[in-house]
Amino acid sequence: MRTPLLLLICLLVLIVSTPCKADLSLTLDDKEMAQADAMYQQYCSLCHGKDREGYKADHAPSLKSESMLSTAYPQLLFDTISWGRVNSAMDGYSKEAGGPLSDADIILLIRWLAQKERISPIELGEASVQGNALNGKVIYSENCVSCHGVNGEGVTAPAIADQLFLSSATDNYLKHAIVYGREGTPMQSFSNKLHDEEINDIVAYLRSQASGWRPTPLELAKWPEPEEFVINPKGSNPTFNLRDGRYVPAKEVVQALESNNKLIILDTRPGSAWQRIHIPGAVPMPYYRDKSRIAEYLPNDDTWIVAYCACPHAASDSVVNHLRSLGYKNTAVIDEGILKWIEMGLPVEAGKDKANKK
Ligand code: HEC
Ligand code: HEC
Repeated sequence: MRTPLLLLICLLVLIVSTPCKADLSLTLDDKEMAQADAMYQQYCSLCHGKDREGYKADHAPSLKSESMLSTAYPQLLFDTISWGRVNSAMDGYSKEAGGPLSDADIILLIRWLAQKERISPIELGEASVQGNALNGKVIYSENCVSCHGVNGEGVTAPAIADQLFLSSATDNYLKHAIVYGREGTPMQSFSNKLHDEEINDIVAYLRSQASGWRPTPLELAKWPEPEEFVINPKGSNPTFNLRDGRYVPAKEVVQALESNNKLIILDTRPGSAWQRIHIPGAVPMPYYRDKSRIAEYLPNDDTWIVAYCACPHAASDSVVNHLRSLGYKNTAVIDEGILKWIEMGLPVEAGKDKANKK
């Protein structure tokens, strides 16, 4: 069982290469299971929940569903955790993307996820599904938009038109999810509701949203030094009107930047997300950082510290809660989060693609 699966993985044309020599057998011992569990709790439970049940924050899906695990293991799981999904709270965790985890860590995590639910990986094959994309669009709009959004951007369910997702999800993976659904989640099986051809048409439509796209690794930027943390150190304090004593509107933060006010902005997402795009001057302070290190270089005076994430609140709340517990007075969370901030056309600094480097 194990050898053919490994062979198949190594033969596939991979977008992001899983180390082919990796041991993908589901035979982790107690010690390895405990190590993976600790990693999961530190990095993933914030959104996917302590028991992998999903929907703890940001509509993060369940990581227990058998139909997902058995078809996503190992490649799609590896790619998703390594590179994340564009425009969502799911960021990449691989060191190569600027995140905290090595390939070996990620392989341990996916083996643990699969072994916890005792799944048997299903080999779906690479053959493409043939269908009529125009028909598919109509059927999609009748059956899927309420959860996945008009353009597949995701509302309460994952963004299935996401470029990173479609670059590693095969046609058969998509079809399997639609035919079988995801037990224990709002994603029902459509096998009784739609004919096989109709499902093929939807797959063709989804595929037409993105084909041939590949993620481009970034040139990793240096993290700011502690003496660069305070923006406008000589400026005066901004005036913020906090909602619920905690949430500051994005436009007040922009105003503070424009008025050269003194403040610190913390990006609480994984380091990879900061690499991709961040608010100018923002300091990476990932939510998963060891608590003893979060306040290490942050002045505990009246300097305003505002934190943000994509979520828009889960990761930034957790960092701000910690700072408040240490007695930091002027702390806040940017209410809209960075995805909304970008949508609003507010200033950002983007990373440079490795390929575009001159
Ligand atoms: C009632 C809400 C709802 C509807 C309607 C719905 N879905 Fe889903 N869908 C979900 C949720 C929630 C998930 C994630 C489930 C989980 O936690 O694993 C999902 C997952 C998926 C996935 C897997 C995505 C991934 O990241 O692996 C695909 C593909 C998908 N849906 C396609 C469709 C299509 C096509 C339709 C219409 C025929 C549809 N869905 C209708 C809620 C819905
Ligand atoms: C800040 C919240 C957040 C954190 C932390 C997070 N995720 Fe996610 N994750 C999400 C969201 C939101 C999605 C759905 C993305 C989309 O719309 O496609 C997702 C999707 C996924 C998927 C795809 C599931 C599917 O049905 O296709 C996997 C696998 C996953 N995450 C694993 C992880 C692992 C492992 C970690 C820890 C290393 C992690 N995530 C940390 C929010 C998060």
